[in-house]
Amino acid sequence: MGLCLATFGQSHVPDLSQAARRADALLARMTLEEKIGQLVLLTSFGAATGPPHEQAALEANIRNGNCGSVFNALTVAEIRKLQKLAVDQTRLHVPLLFGYDVVHGYKTIFPIPLGEAASWDLRAIEHSARVAAVEASAAGLNWTFAPMVDIARDPRWGRICEGAGEDPFLGSAVARSQVRGFQGKDLTAPDTVLACVKHFAAYGAAMSGRDYNTVDVSERTLREVYLPPYAAAVQAGASSVMTAFNEYDGTPATANGFLLKRILRDELGFKGIVVTDYAAISELVAHGSAVDESEAAQQALAAGVDLDMEDGVYLHNLKQLLRDHRVTRKQIDAAAKRMLELKLTLGLLDDPYRHCDEQREARLVGAREHLEAAYRMACESFVLLKNDSQNLPLKAGARIAVIGPLADSQRDLLGSWKGDGGWVSVETVLDGIKRNDATDEVVFARGCEVASTNRASFAEAVAAARKADVVVAVMGESWDMSGENASRTSINLPGVQTDLLRELRKTGKPLVLVLLNGRPLDLEAESTLADAILEAWFPGMEGGKAVADVLFGKHNPCGKLPVTFPRRLGQVPIFYSVKNTGRPVNPARPDEPYKSTYLDCPNDPLYPFGFGLGYTTFACAGPHLEQSALGPGGKITASAAVSNTGTRDGVAVVQLYIRDLVGSVTRPVLELKGFQRVELKAGESRLVSFDISENDLAFLRKDMTWGTEPGAFRAFIGLDSRELRSATFQLSKK
Ligand code: NOJ
Repeated sequence: MGLCLATFGQSHVPDLSQAARRADALLARMTLEEKIGQLVLLTSFGAATGPPHEQAALEANIRNGNCGSVFNALTVAEIRKLQKLAVDQTRLHVPLLFGYDVVHGYKTIFPIPLGEAASWDLRAIEHSARVAAVEASAAGLNWTFAPMVDIARDPRWGRICEGAGEDPFLGSAVARSQVRGFQGKDLTAPDTVLACVKHFAAYGAAMSGRDYNTVDVSERTLREVYLPPYAAAVQAGASSVMTAFNEYDGTPATANGFLLKRILRDELGFKGIVVTDYAAISELVAHGSAVDESEAAQQALAAGVDLDMEDGVYLHNLKQLLRDHRVTRKQIDAAAKRMLELKLTLGLLDDPYRHCDEQREARLVGAREHLEAAYRMACESFVLLKNDSQNLPLKAGARIAVIGPLADSQRDLLGSWKGDGGWVSVETVLDGIKRNDATDEVVFARGCEVASTNRASFAEAVAAARKADVVVAVMGESWDMSGENASRTSINLPGVQTDLLRELRKTGKPLVLVLLNGRPLDLEAESTLADAILEAWFPGMEGGKAVADVLFGKHNPCGKLPVTFPRRLGQVPIFYSVKNTGRPVNPARPDEPYKSTYLDCPNDPLYPFGFGLGYTTFACAGPHLEQSALGPGGKITASAAVSNTGTRDGVAVVQLYIRDLVGSVTRPVLELKGFQRVELKAGESRLVSFDISENDLAFLRKDMTWGTEPGAFRAFIGLDSRELRSATFQLSKK
């Protein structure tokens, strides 16, 4: 049994041995109450994502040693004040940890994580997390509740925007980069924060895409699809893991020893702390797993939960549970020790105020170079879905009608989890277009609201379009339509936006659609109405500027979809890495009956995983395999010549997929196993090579052991998961 734990570059796993010795010594001096206090995390007065349970009593709880960590406290001044309570007024002066949801930036908001993943640029993603860590730590924080690494294949689920999309390989690569970015090379450095990998496990498989809903996936799917990004993050040294709200196999994740002990601790070797999600221990009662909060506390501790977020269930129950012999001193000691170790690893016991420096705060929070990084990341995250008549880039002298409810919005650019970030001087898409256009002929008409059915402003928008050379419609979802607690049963453009697009189409003017949204949308209608479509996600503080600059050709869009865009909601869940079935469609005879198809819709998506256009074109030949077989421990090299066949410099993302043709269990028709971003000048060609090792061919075999099986494989190389060419090779026994 096991997970694929391939080694990926250098990781910075913290050395806990010295911390462990000091933690033991400190623990030996602690009373039971003091130990339990270390297992309590309470919210301060910043944004909370549930009903605050102990908020009013926060300061008293800190003073009394009933709280070892705080979240949602913002600014050095506030954090210093709370830290002082713990350090000056508790018997052993143990400092607090300060956590916050720094998800895509602290003050400088970057694109939502799904957008960042669309860049396929691991260095930029790591840098984004680094900037977030620099700002958050300068503001007094030492812990972020990120990255969210939940694989998501159902766009109804609002939290799909917080992760890296549908694929375990890409998701793992992104997770590693994020952990490295947040934690840096040295946790005692003043500019790092602890990462918290969430939500363990399989939260992204919430049934029907409804948030917090039941998860029911096989152990094989859990291990092959959902666990790899968590494993990668743990391997990269993530210091904490957050439990998920959902159940797995009938047991809520927060009481699930199979997940938290067997997989996380025993198999993945995780040494850090396990924190619950918001009030998730008390929710064990609603799940029907525990009869009351006391039993819930017992279950969570037994399952391996160290830190109780917000509901005070450990605080109010562990002492009695110990008296009643329902939990052991050993369990409490183990959890408290892990909390102390983490604080020691951060250097907090030597200097509790190491993140409390007002000068650093003033200098680093919202620094200019951070904005520049957010701008570059936004430019790289955009995916050009259509540009049939080359209406993009826009011409600087054109008369432009900018239409749509999101064109002049600042807030929507930031997406969900903006936390304390962002400020009012954000340039909107409209501002950016005006800045770029050489004429004064940019006209704006809102046309409609995002989600209302009111068509009263259509006429004004259509009139503006008639007078223009080109129409840029900026549409999509409002920021709060994706994220936590934001599931939808429709993935269409909300309200009457598509109707407005139809009216604009009738003017006959070239129609460019810019989308701001946090999930794959059903764009079947829009893809025929618009001449060009730019998927801009929620692009962050510099997103309006970046969208406009990309529209005008200052940057060549190079993002690729990290998640499949269906034709229709009825295809969901839809993802590229499917099984063949016993009745696959024969491409030469697509109408043959009794095949695994729909009556009313093709199987394939509107826009496949890995897809994205640019202002140049690329061609990919090959693949050429340098060997036709590999044995155990061996490798073969697959290469393909990639050429920039257009007239502009650009970035191609060359993708390697594998198919294992026959196995002891059936294998997906494609699995991503490698990718490279390649910058090519106009007319330039380059040979791109991938080494395929035995490890890349491993899977969870029939007997649930991880390994390979000899036989035939195909290697596919191409520029998205649909347009691929392949070559066959063999894995031999020896
Ligand atoms: C609930 C969310 O599920 C989680 O992702 C977040 O970190 C916590 N609330 C804390 O805000």
